[in-house]
Amino acid sequence: MRTSFKLLAATAAFASAFMLTACDDKKASSAKSETGKPAAEAKTDAKEPLKVGFVYVAPIADVGYTKQHDIGRLYAIEQVGKDKVTTSYVENVPETADAERVIRQMVADGNKLIFGTSFGYMNYMQKLAKEYPDVKFEHATGYKTAPNMTNYNIRFYEGRYLAGMLAGGMTKSNIIGYVAPFPIPEVLQGINAFTLGAKSVNPNIQVKVIWTNAWYDPPKDTDSAKTLLGQGADILTQHTNTSAVASAAEAAGKMVIPYNSNMKSVAPNAQIAALVLNWGPYYAKKINQVREGKWDANPVWMHMKDGAISIEGVSDKVPADLVKKMEDVKAKINSGEFHPFTGPFNNNEGKEAAKKGQVLSDKDLATMNYYVDGVVGKVPN
Ligand code: GUN
Repeated sequence: MRTSFKLLAATAAFASAFMLTACDDKKASSAKSETGKPAAEAKTDAKEPLKVGFVYVAPIADVGYTKQHDIGRLYAIEQVGKDKVTTSYVENVPETADAERVIRQMVADGNKLIFGTSFGYMNYMQKLAKEYPDVKFEHATGYKTAPNMTNYNIRFYEGRYLAGMLAGGMTKSNIIGYVAPFPIPEVLQGINAFTLGAKSVNPNIQVKVIWTNAWYDPPKDTDSAKTLLGQGADILTQHTNTSAVASAAEAAGKMVIPYNSNMKSVAPNAQIAALVLNWGPYYAKKINQVREGKWDANPVWMHMKDGAISIEGVSDKVPADLVKKMEDVKAKINSGEFHPFTGPFNNNEGKEAAKKGQVLSDKDLATMNYYVDGVVGKVPN
């Protein structure tokens, strides 16, 4: 899966050229630090604000994955203090050699901590981490590290199970549509946890998936959403980065449980709940660690109980007994009493994927390459 995704990621360049975007306070374009020395060699003066760069795969103007990272960046500035941190970001950075060029420039501009927020930046970041040992590299959602590079992620599947419960309880057609970007384990965990949650309240549901092979491609998301609605889905969700699926559900008078952001602004009637990601506390913590010379190199995989993902804006269209069921499961996930991937369940080819009472390990999750029973079709190669 990983190998095939690398290939996909490498070819998933955006048609539009990336833009260097204004930051909260300064533009990240100078190749020299304030001391006039090449930035990569300059010493950080404890009294100077720490320079921190963020690399984004999509635009922040759309509600979605990148928007949530940027909300996190702004939250971190507030928490750490404007006098202590200076941030910059670049949007629409493809997961190609362009990412390497952008990050290299960030290093040259004097950034001492760089957050790369998309899966496909991983290899470029690892290469650069080796070249620039005095810069800390933080990669979202990957697994490769270096002495000065770690990764951070959220257990998205915990929230997905709850969203699936709501979808399973609300669908009338028993067909739920799912717009997905790339068939990497993270995305399959989401589809499968969602399906298990939906089946826990409605064993008759089917989840139909369309793969877009893009994180951010609004027209493809719109087409995929329309196709799924045409195939009988009356409720949609997505793992892609746009708000287009939510907009399509709104336009069709159907339901949606958006992922990444609350999308009430584009789907005021269609949205029955939203799964919202919250990166800010992690960003604030890591910025403080670097400032204090106490950067922690351990990868983290945050839980719903940490506040990193939440189900928000549950509409009053959802019956109270269904909300209560979902809240009960949420409490059990948060207390550790229940794990979304608890057997028994089969894959969608009838083979046992987890025995009764078996809980999938983190390693099982990190290598997930199948659909659970209830998802229609085959995982693409
Ligand atoms: N890049 C953009 N969006 C995503 C996402 O949802 N997951 C991962 N791993 N990388 C992304």
